[in-house]
Amino acid sequence: MSKMEVKTSLLDNMIGVGDMVLLEPLAEESFIKNLRKRFDHNEIYTYIGSVVISINPYRALPIYTPDKVEEYRNRNFYELSPHIYALADEAYRSLRDQDKDQCILITGESGAGKTEASKLVMSYVAAVCGKGAEVNQVKEQLLQSNPVLEAFGNAKTVRNDNSSRFGKYMDVEFDFKGDPLGGVISNYLLEKSRVVKQPRGERNFHIFYQLLSGASEDMLKKLKLERDFSKYNYLSLDSATVTGVDDAVCFRTVKNAMQIVGFMDNETQSVLELVGAVLKLGNIEFKPESRVNEVDESRVKDKNELKEICELLGIEQSVLERAFSFRTVEAKQEKVSTTLNVAQAYYARDALAKNLYSRLFTWLVNRINESIKAQTKKRKKVMGVLDIYGFEIFEENSFEQFIINYCNEKLQQIFIELTLKEEQEEYIREDIEWTHIEYFNNSVICDLIENNTNGIMAMLDEECLRPGTVTDSTFLEKLNQICADHQHFESRMSKSSKFLNDHSLPHNCFRIQHYAGKVLYHVDGFVDKNNDLLYRDLSQAMWKANHSLIKSLFPDGNPAKINLKRPPTAGSQFKASVATLMKNLQTKNPNYIRCIKPNDQKASHIFTDSLVCHQVRYLGLMENVRVRRAGYAFRQPYDACLERYKMLCKQTWPHWRGQARDGVEVLLKDLQIPEDEYSYGRSKIFIRNPRTLFSLEEQRKRRLHGLATLIQKIYRGWKTRTHFLLMKSSQVTVAAWYRRYAQQTKYKKTKSSAIMVQSFIRGWKARKILRDLKYQKRCKEAVTTIGAYWHGTQVRREYRKFFRAHAGKRIYAFTIQRIMQKYFLELKNKMPSMSPCDKTWPARPYLFLDSTHRELRRIFHLWTCKKYRGQFTDQKKAIYEEKLEASEIFKDKKALYPSSVSQPFQGDYLEINKNPRYQKLNSLVEEKIIFADIVNKINRANGKGAQRIFLLTKSKFMLADQKSGQQIKSSVPLAELTSVSMSTQSDGFFALRVKEGTTAAAKGDFLLNSERIIEIITKLHRAGLDLTKEKIQIEITDEFLVQFKQDKVCVKFIQNGPKNGTMASCKRKNNRLLEVTVPSP
Ligand SMILES: Nc1ncnc2c1ncn2[C@@H]1O[C@H](COP(=O)(O)OP(=O)(O)OP(=O)(O)O)[C@@H](O)[C@H]1O
Ligand SMILES: [Mg+2]
Repeated sequence: MSKMEVKTSLLDNMIGVGDMVLLEPLAEESFIKNLRKRFDHNEIYTYIGSVVISINPYRALPIYTPDKVEEYRNRNFYELSPHIYALADEAYRSLRDQDKDQCILITGESGAGKTEASKLVMSYVAAVCGKGAEVNQVKEQLLQSNPVLEAFGNAKTVRNDNSSRFGKYMDVEFDFKGDPLGGVISNYLLEKSRVVKQPRGERNFHIFYQLLSGASEDMLKKLKLERDFSKYNYLSLDSATVTGVDDAVCFRTVKNAMQIVGFMDNETQSVLELVGAVLKLGNIEFKPESRVNEVDESRVKDKNELKEICELLGIEQSVLERAFSFRTVEAKQEKVSTTLNVAQAYYARDALAKNLYSRLFTWLVNRINESIKAQTKKRKKVMGVLDIYGFEIFEENSFEQFIINYCNEKLQQIFIELTLKEEQEEYIREDIEWTHIEYFNNSVICDLIENNTNGIMAMLDEECLRPGTVTDSTFLEKLNQICADHQHFESRMSKSSKFLNDHSLPHNCFRIQHYAGKVLYHVDGFVDKNNDLLYRDLSQAMWKANHSLIKSLFPDGNPAKINLKRPPTAGSQFKASVATLMKNLQTKNPNYIRCIKPNDQKASHIFTDSLVCHQVRYLGLMENVRVRRAGYAFRQPYDACLERYKMLCKQTWPHWRGQARDGVEVLLKDLQIPEDEYSYGRSKIFIRNPRTLFSLEEQRKRRLHGLATLIQKIYRGWKTRTHFLLMKSSQVTVAAWYRRYAQQTKYKKTKSSAIMVQSFIRGWKARKILRDLKYQKRCKEAVTTIGAYWHGTQVRREYRKFFRAHAGKRIYAFTIQRIMQKYFLELKNKMPSMSPCDKTWPARPYLFLDSTHRELRRIFHLWTCKKYRGQFTDQKKAIYEEKLEASEIFKDKKALYPSSVSQPFQGDYLEINKNPRYQKLNSLVEEKIIFADIVNKINRANGKGAQRIFLLTKSKFMLADQKSGQQIKSSVPLAELTSVSMSTQSDGFFALRVKEGTTAAAKGDFLLNSERIIEIITKLHRAGLDLTKEKIQIEITDEFLVQFKQDKVCVKFIQNGPKNGTMASCKRKNNRLLEVTVPSP
């Protein structure tokens, strides 16, 4: 819930009573007790209706923070505990929202906290009103006018370290939105006598001390001043400093404030020059100088000081000097100059100082006004703040106290008038019968003082103006005559002898019974002070000054504007300005702050009953309460009242639906409050007696306890019930889940058991069925088998006759076919490689296939050979043909043959064509040489060998000598060759037999030896066959005959033992035998 919505009341947590109207019983004693009680609890503010009583706490309380400002902002007056902010807020809001001009009247004796209160009100208003650069500047200027005025108008007194020595009324002006526009300050009667003389324990105005402590050396020099206070007669020395205040710091604050307010630097300088001049004036002393006519004439003692003042103010020294010595009186165009004696000179000096200072002060106020003046001509709303000196009763009271107390008397009057008026207005507004209220009206006292014909002031003025010797005692005599009958005037010498023996009333005094008490005034100085004379010579001297500020302060010194009429007396001036102020205040809505000083020691925590009692009396606070309570002590709007007390009645609790007023009516009836105790206004209920209110409060308190218990009870019940319900529902949930789980488990178990039993049963059933089916199947099979057999038997029996004739053959043929198929397929899979040399062949599977198997092997071999041959080129074919022929001739016949099979037949081993060695031989042979090699020709005679080249062509063979020029020794045509002989053994001997009768035959047959015998013979055989188509006869035998010339020689081949060398050798044994020894293999 937001702060604004909390409905609170002043009555909440009240210490004592927050509003004195509610005080019961109403007596001075209880009044003070209540104030003391609240003060002890730091509650320095208490109300009397809408009036705020403020007791000076003499210490900083934490109740002026921005948070507090926010707390009180826009709240109703009675909503929160009493505070000056509540009053300020109320005033500001009714100014802004209801367009009512306001004035805040702050009264109380010196040191009671008026100035502080006025500053608090200003700062509150500044905090809550509009914001923005321009507005902030106005605010700042308004707030900063305070330090300036305080420096010049405040002083330390025995009662207050910062006592305002002037009355101040400040109008703050606002626009329609409530934003500040500017202000106007009025000042009242500055206590100027302080400039020249201060009572014991008091100081002059702050600015003098601030200037001397805070100004720079440079500035002091310019002002021709010295820092030491003791150098100045006008500064009392016994209390030159104020504890806790640094004058130097204050000086800077003041200068800064002057700048903010808008003082130009030269203006500030001029002001300070004047302050300096006043100080220096005090140091001018006079000495008597006897004259002829035995009149003492005064002379300035030390002219140096005078000179400095004149320099400072730009006055001609002689002019000022003369003004201190002579007095010119002008009457009816006649100028009479009289000399001044020393006393008169001092009087003139002090009068000048006082006048200078007070005029400077008035100038300052006007200058500030100029700065803070609202810049618009539009209608403005105004809030006036009056901080005026309070009622003063000193041991010795003089003219000032008389004036001040008169002012307070007027304020009291306006207070009573306005309070009563307001009260009456409210009654009328609320339509309540107005009962006459008895109260003390101080207008008689005011009349005693201000009456134009026989008032004390009028008397005083009369005395001042009267020609002839006028003294204070003549004035008193006059009073004694004229005012003697007045019931508030007392004097020893008055006509009525009432006071003849009153020793408390001295002869040179008169006493006035003010509303706030009796005050004894000493008449000494009344006439002088009222006259407030400044010799014209002095004002003229000042006017002549070459200093614009001082010149402007003394316009009366201008000889051109000599006014022979006496200036109005101080009293009449004051009376007039008070009258204006009163008029001004009467047009505004008043708000009162009554300040009270708790003790005389300026100490916190001390509450002196007697002192407070005195103030309560003279402030008329009891009267105030009585007036307020005269009709009805307490009033409250209906809704607020209903809201607060509705719990006391069943009909209105907890809600009242109808009008608030009806609700309050029901409520009060129900509570049986006597009808004469209250009255119904239009918007408020008026309660006559505070007792009624307190009994209501008491009942409310008790009821609140009951309600609290009820709320507690209901809350606890609710809480427990909610908890219980939660537990219950949780329990149900848990149980449900558990049950579900248990049932699930149980079900799963049952299900699985059922499935198990089922499966067993099904298995059993299925097995049974299977058994049955198997049995049936077997039965069926058995039947089928039996049937088949039986059928077969039947069929066979039936068809036997048909089977017998062919079945055997067919079965046989079929079987054979099957076997053959199988055989061939197997053979196909086991086929050996295609190499003709590969002799492998699968084993024969069946005996009856033996011949076929072999035949197939043979065919396969032939086929592989054919395939092999098919790959041959013609050349290779020819070689193989030769090899084949060699095989046909020699195989199994000659032992040398197998070793030749692997030797390829090269033919021309000598490479006759290419080899240059045989070039000649080559040229001799015309035909193509089929074979050429070196052979051994066996000598027919001894059997020894000689190397010959053997050449073979298509038609002949030749033998050429290898060494001797390659001569062809013999050339035999193949047609003449009859046969060839050789052994069966591994030797290379062979004999070529030539046809008898041919030319070749002449030498006989040829016996040759060659390693390549197989090739030679084969080639010979082929060539011969090609040539003659007849085969040459080839004889292979170990013993053959050869024709050597005419002899026939037998060539015999003998195998010798292994010992006799490795080569075959030939030996002629005799004419008939040629033995060839062949090594055994
Ligand atoms: N509300 C407050 N809180 C704290 N201190 C306060 C308060 N009001 C006043 N004082 C103290 O009391 C002193 C005197 O107060 P203030 O100057 O306002 O008195 P005054 O009524 O204006 O007196 P005078 O009539 O002499 O001018 C202040 O300087 C300050 O120390
Ligand atoms: Mg003050």
